[in-house]
Amino acid sequence: MLNTSFIPVSAPVHRRRLTRLETAFIARRNVLEIIPSFAYRQPIVSGDILVRWHMMADPAGMKRVMLDNLGNYPKSEIMRRMLRPAIGESLFNADGADWKWQRQAVAPVFTHRNVVALAPAMSATAERAIARLRQSGGRAELVKEMLTATFDVICDVALSGREHFDSETFAKAITQYFQTAGRASLLDFLGFPEWFPRPGELLAGSSVRTMHSMVAAAIEARRRHATGRADDLLDYMLAAQDPETGQRMSPKDLIHNMQFFIVAGHETTALALSWALYLLANSPDHQERARAEVAVQLGGRTAEAADLAAMPFIQQVLEEAMRLYPPVGLLARNVLKEDQLCGRLMKPNDILFLPIWALHRHELLWDRPELFDPDRFDPNKGPKRDKYQYLPFGAGPRVCVGANFAMMQAGIILASLVQRFRFRPSQPLPHPVMTMTVRPEPGVFLELQALE
Ligand code: HEM
Repeated sequence: MLNTSFIPVSAPVHRRRLTRLETAFIARRNVLEIIPSFAYRQPIVSGDILVRWHMMADPAGMKRVMLDNLGNYPKSEIMRRMLRPAIGESLFNADGADWKWQRQAVAPVFTHRNVVALAPAMSATAERAIARLRQSGGRAELVKEMLTATFDVICDVALSGREHFDSETFAKAITQYFQTAGRASLLDFLGFPEWFPRPGELLAGSSVRTMHSMVAAAIEARRRHATGRADDLLDYMLAAQDPETGQRMSPKDLIHNMQFFIVAGHETTALALSWALYLLANSPDHQERARAEVAVQLGGRTAEAADLAAMPFIQQVLEEAMRLYPPVGLLARNVLKEDQLCGRLMKPNDILFLPIWALHRHELLWDRPELFDPDRFDPNKGPKRDKYQYLPFGAGPRVCVGANFAMMQAGIILASLVQRFRFRPSQPLPHPVMTMTVRPEPGVFLELQALE
């Protein structure tokens, strides 16, 4: 039995086949809207816009693409192209040996021990967010608040501070980037050749320059005042060396990697938190249950890393929020060699979309997928899930390197906020829009009642 009746906002679903031009226009507005209704009911849907494409939302197929036959499915050229101006061929965009050594270089920063050491910075951020929200006059837009909170923490992890960052300027540049280069280009869908410049890329120039110059200034300052200790991500990257070639990260690689970590490391977590607060505000029973759990564990003090294990319901709320609103709602891969997925032939150069959004709302995989029910994630209840039917962080060797970090940060912030405020919905309501990430538009507006 599902423990809820609240149906949260979703994206419109088209029931007929879209033409190539319609797909192009709609994808620019909201990628979620190009997911056809079949994708929520069938393991795989295929079509032919200019190249053959497939949209697969099937756990066994996901495992094959992300683990068993990973090498056959590199990141798609369309996505890489959208990201390249900002992050070049850094970790997220790289493939093969080039990816492997960069991944090995940053992995130590995200070991459990190192992430736990960052928890005090996360708790302090949560306290600052609470102080700001107390000044908000009883109503606030939570996405902006959560972005400010998570930005603080990632600056600590990446650069041990933010003297070189004006967070507002950086945040504006990120939004501008997502709205320009971050939107799928009409020209991609119309099959214009690779070398033909896309308008989004040209418009993105100034936002990329702003972001890169801030990151470059921070790197330069570190080079001048290096302590020799490997304290943060930048230190690890400066010291990193490819074991086979002896190669080190070039100044450009460093900027691109730092740029990716700063953007990906805070935007996605802030969105997960904003959606979780929207869901709790609309589901008072779940909100009270979360608050009761937090009260027992924290008794009025700020959440710390060690508290999280004793607050499983907070974790369940976050997991269910990322099921309904996976911050990364769709991944794309290219096909290198012939292969079979869900009984369908994949041919070289086909594009394979992995709609995490549809996987998480799939009728064959979830009971009443449209409902908000954190008890789906209660390990002691319900049917056992296939690991590959819930993939907010991806899976396999390319799984999100920051997943532990994100969950710890989100858990600490959510528990702290729920303890201090009662949230109620306010107008306008958000609706999910994906360009690069699944954002609530125009924001998550909530009423807040401060609690003692
Ligand atoms: C709720 C928060 C987050 C979500 C939902 C998320 C989601 C994802 C997903 C789905 C991927 C896999 C992409 C693919 O297979 O194409 C990924 C990769 C990645 N994420 Fe995250 N992420 C989050 C937070 C973070 C944080 C906090 C960091 C770093 C501080 C981070 C850094 C990365 C990196 C570097 C990769 C690329 C890994 C590789 O290719 O080896 N992410 N993330």
